[in-house]
Amino acid sequence: MNGVKTFGEMTGRYRLTDVETVRSEGSWLFTVRDEHGTDEEVILVPCDDDDAESPVEAWVNRCTHEAQRLYRDEVGAVIRDGEIVCPKHGSLFDTCSGDCDNGEAAETTLVSVDVTAEEGQVYLTDDDVTFLHDGASDGDDDDGGTPDSTSHLRF
Ligand code: FES
Repeated sequence: MNGVKTFGEMTGRYRLTDVETVRSEGSWLFTVRDEHGTDEEVILVPCDDDDAESPVEAWVNRCTHEAQRLYRDEVGAVIRDGEIVCPKHGSLFDTCSGDCDNGEAAETTLVSVDVTAEEGQVYLTDDDVTFLHDGASDGDDDDGGTPDSTSHLRF
């Protein structure tokens, strides 16, 4: 249907990229449509915990404090010591659990999307969403914040 691949057509999972690409690029952005018909950006990020079930996790590209994108065009997601840095107020989210215990977004968890890594490949395996395309959501190429939203932090 209009080039959109549904899960039924893709036998339950859709190959996104490979683990090495996520590691080398630091993060990897794609867009899905959720069960309510809303397009959502999702980021793949490396998870380096020894006990982690997967070397890659996927989170909706939106801070839990405000509607601020975590992955920004031409910058990507900023990750330090296994934590995603929110570009607006600097809260840190664990790449493996999505949990935040600091700053404005403290005691919240990013919205997860199910992915599976197998033999170095990363597959979307979340029955609640449909893969649309790599990269940013169409028509939403700003950073989801005010024009000076990056001015609070220096990297
Ligand atoms: S918008 Fe992310 S911490 Fe405020």
